[in-house]
Amino acid sequence: MATISTLAYLVAAVLFILALRGLSHPETSRRGNLYGMIGMAIAIVATLFHHGMDIGGIVLILVGLALGGSVGAVVAKRIQMTALPQLVAAFHSLVGMAAVFVAAGAFYSPQSFGIGTHGHIHTQSLIEMSLGIAIGAITFSGSVIAFAKLDGRMSGAPIIFKGQHLLNAALGVLLLVLVISFVATGSPLLFWLIALLSFALGFLLIIPIGGADMPVVVSMLNSYSGWAAAGIGFTVGNLLLIVTGALVGASGAILSYIMCKGMNRSIINVLLGGFGAEAGGAAAGGGAGAERAPVKAGSPEDAAFIMKNAQKIIVVPGYGMAVAQAQQVLREMGDLLKKEGAEVEYAIHPVAGRMPGHMNVLLAEANVPYEDVKELEEINPEFAEADVAYVIGANDVTNPAAKTDKSSPIYGMPILDVEKAKTVFFVKRGMSSGYAGVDNELFFRPNTMMLFGDAKKVTQEIVQALQK
Ligand code: TAP
Repeated sequence: MATISTLAYLVAAVLFILALRGLSHPETSRRGNLYGMIGMAIAIVATLFHHGMDIGGIVLILVGLALGGSVGAVVAKRIQMTALPQLVAAFHSLVGMAAVFVAAGAFYSPQSFGIGTHGHIHTQSLIEMSLGIAIGAITFSGSVIAFAKLDGRMSGAPIIFKGQHLLNAALGVLLLVLVISFVATGSPLLFWLIALLSFALGFLLIIPIGGADMPVVVSMLNSYSGWAAAGIGFTVGNLLLIVTGALVGASGAILSYIMCKGMNRSIINVLLGGFGAEAGGAAAGGGAGAERAPVKAGSPEDAAFIMKNAQKIIVVPGYGMAVAQAQQVLREMGDLLKKEGAEVEYAIHPVAGRMPGHMNVLLAEANVPYEDVKELEEINPEFAEADVAYVIGANDVTNPAAKTDKSSPIYGMPILDVEKAKTVFFVKRGMSSGYAGVDNELFFRPNTMMLFGDAKKVTQEIVQALQK
């Protein structure tokens, strides 16, 4: 039986690796998901049989699976695409909490886990357990804050106070001391002190991270949740959980690195937080109310006329396209313009939207050809040759303040050079700023035309005008 389950674990681990590989590209992502689901099914069945559980244990697990699975299915069905990032943050928090519970279970019932007896737990298990609690608790409270920020339940602005970094460093050292003492004594009081301190640390680590750095936080917490799961794997002595946790931990860390690169930010800079502190001030100060040339607003018919006569059009989708669910009609617009003889491409900024790959997924869902979708480095030189940049629900990712204004919270982030196109259309509902809370001076440029309205409605009207 042990050999069969080892083999099944190996197959599941390979399927998880294939799943990650598949998820790295929109074209293969569905297959990747399928591999992941098959791998998980194999892992669950193998685990149930491997432990040769009595019927009561199996029934309990099946009830848990049915309950958790039903809640998951209902939530997944109801969730809006735009709310996925906060859902992911909420799910990460559950992984963190699970790690803490498993550690508590192992601590109070070590015999069931084969890691010693009450009061005499093996040293190695105490080390694994303390890491599991610390990472799990930090993941839990950090993810709850990330959820609240992404869901708009608390301000996305960084919360900063004097001596914050010093306090965090001191708490980090204290945590290390507690872990060492816990491993030496196995004291229940120290167990719970580690948990409490880690909950506080998770909270303190995420509150100073604001606005524009949230993408990195989401992927970082993804990585933490993986390491927390690997910690649980050590505690329960399950090799597959260790492998899977490490895969999630490592891929989350790589994603954080990619996100940091996309934002032109160092991970230390993000972790120390406070970046984006002036966001609120910038929006309030240099805001739309400040003296500026009036904006030029146009109608969908104007836009259709200009695009009908254009040779090269670059579409720049952003968060507003996801909110409006405008991807389908956007593809229809692209198809019509192609029929008119124009070249149509789609420019993707690495942090456009609210989660990694957000725009790629939506465009793939609308069957936009992959070869028309270009990443930032590839498309940026092309804006100077473009007749039209059609910016649909994107804002921060086009904001030139990132290149020029050192005081801006998005300073240093590479942006899409839309302003180099002959005409720039901005499709948005009003003059409000983007996620980072920074005004965009492009709205006031002479080659910009604002198309005010819901992204789907405006694009639909352009499609109708193009068909006339
Ligand atoms: P944003 O800068 O957030 O701008 C989106 C714009 O869409 C807003 O200015 C809004 O203006 C407009 N909008 C909203 N609903 C709309 C609708 N129904 N129709 C038309 N327009 C609508 O988006 P972006 O350019 O994609 O930049 C992403 C930002 O999110 C970056 O700051 C990034 O750091 C941050 N972020 C990214 C991630 C990841 S991983 N991608 C995660 C968290 C945060 P109106 O209100 O005037 O319509």
